Amino acid sequence: MSFRKDFLWGGATAANQLEGGYDEDGRGLANVDVAPVGEDRHAIISGDKKHLDFDGEHFYPAKKAIDHYHRYKEDIALFAEMGFKTYRLSIGWTRIFPKGDEKEPNEAGLKFYEDLFKECKKHGIEPLVTITHFDCPMHLIKEYGGWRNRKMVDFYANLTRTLFTRYKGLVKYWLTFNEINIILHAPFMGAGIVFEEGENKKQVLYQAAHHELVSSAMATKIAREVDPNIQIGCMLAAGKTYPNSPRPADVLAAQQADRQNYFFIDVQSRGEYPAYALKELEREGVEIPFKEGDKELLKEYTVDFISFSYYSSRVAAANPENQDETSGNIFSSVKNPYLEASEWGWQIDPLGLRITMNDIYDRYQKPLFIVENGLGAIDTPDASGYVEDDYRIDYLSSHIAAMKEAVELDGVDLMGYTSWGCIDLVSAGTGEMKKRYGYIYVDRDNYGNGTLERTPKKSFYWYKKVIETNGEDLSNN
Ligand code: BG6
Repeated sequence: MSFRKDFLWGGATAANQLEGGYDEDGRGLANVDVAPVGEDRHAIISGDKKHLDFDGEHFYPAKKAIDHYHRYKEDIALFAEMGFKTYRLSIGWTRIFPKGDEKEPNEAGLKFYEDLFKECKKHGIEPLVTITHFDCPMHLIKEYGGWRNRKMVDFYANLTRTLFTRYKGLVKYWLTFNEINIILHAPFMGAGIVFEEGENKKQVLYQAAHHELVSSAMATKIAREVDPNIQIGCMLAAGKTYPNSPRPADVLAAQQADRQNYFFIDVQSRGEYPAYALKELEREGVEIPFKEGDKELLKEYTVDFISFSYYSSRVAAANPENQDETSGNIFSSVKNPYLEASEWGWQIDPLGLRITMNDIYDRYQKPLFIVENGLGAIDTPDASGYVEDDYRIDYLSSHIAAMKEAVELDGVDLMGYTSWGCIDLVSAGTGEMKKRYGYIYVDRDNYGNGTLERTPKKSFYWYKKVIETNGEDLSNN
């Protein structure tokens, strides 16, 4: 048995990284809009530098991004040409509720996504929708402090009820929070958090995390009420952590690093705070702001499936200060001498995907969905705009082969695969355009120059064949 007959092949994007149209049709300002390209980005997205509006010194790539807001029909037609069965996208919260705390939604925003979903359906593409992918209304940050505030649970509940009701019958698969564990590493981008001088960061982070976890369960409850056909997934920035050596202290460090990430999914999938987290948070003096009814809600409304991103494995050491580091998805890791790395230092480990899938499946015993995977690379188009991206094909084919082994040899139940950035878009980590993941080249540079013209790359035709053969033919010819 290889991939399911109804395997959901496709690609993934996020609203703020491709839509643009940041102030059109009533859309409000969000945290992700004010994250510039360049060296200040890191301090801003991690909440260490307060930056809540545009200034004249920076370039803000999300304002226009790749103008998908006006070109979505053309883009979806290209996805359909590749044979996509699904398209993962996210909702721009401030299109629906421009400030975030309104009672009534913005009809123009709702209509935009309705049209987009209908366009997908027209091509036989099933939408897979992330409710929040790194976006938080700026008004909620300024007035309430973002996810540190319990009121966010109500605002998010209003958002989800609005979405589930309006798109009933159009959208079946929903993810509550993109890479929920990234809140620990990019708190402003992940949860609209800006730290105050001298406050206990860990308290703020786990308080905000609790609010997101309660909101995720609440969304599941609302979904069950509105439309029992809806399937809710959680979303983890995954990647197995290896010990730096067989020394027991390194093995323990690797286990602890994995648990820091699994903590979120343990709550979302098993329905309760794991003992290791309760102990650690207690030791650190962190108070989890449980309210009456939270425990029951978390226990009853767990997710239907586990989705995750995988770009790389990681390495942990008991004494990391003496080790070489390498960068990875938002946070860095000890370098693994057995692996090659991308131009951005992300280490390439297809077998790590099989290992990660097995770890997650063993832990939760629920269907898995790989909703991000891919290679961020510099593409050089020829005179006609065509990119021969064999390096991307190599990366993707080796990862799909590993994922196939997890299914065929290990029996992991996998629902689908949506590779990241199926069309070139703005990088979340760096704000660059030149870090490209797509099957479709978009003519735009880091500072907004270019025609925005779309051109299929070599990988476009390769992926089309992969989908046509349900993953049987991964060859590059
Ligand atoms: C994940 C995010 O962290 O990785 C995406 O969910 C992001 O939003 C992707 O774009 C790749 O990271 P980057 O920094 O290369 O864009």
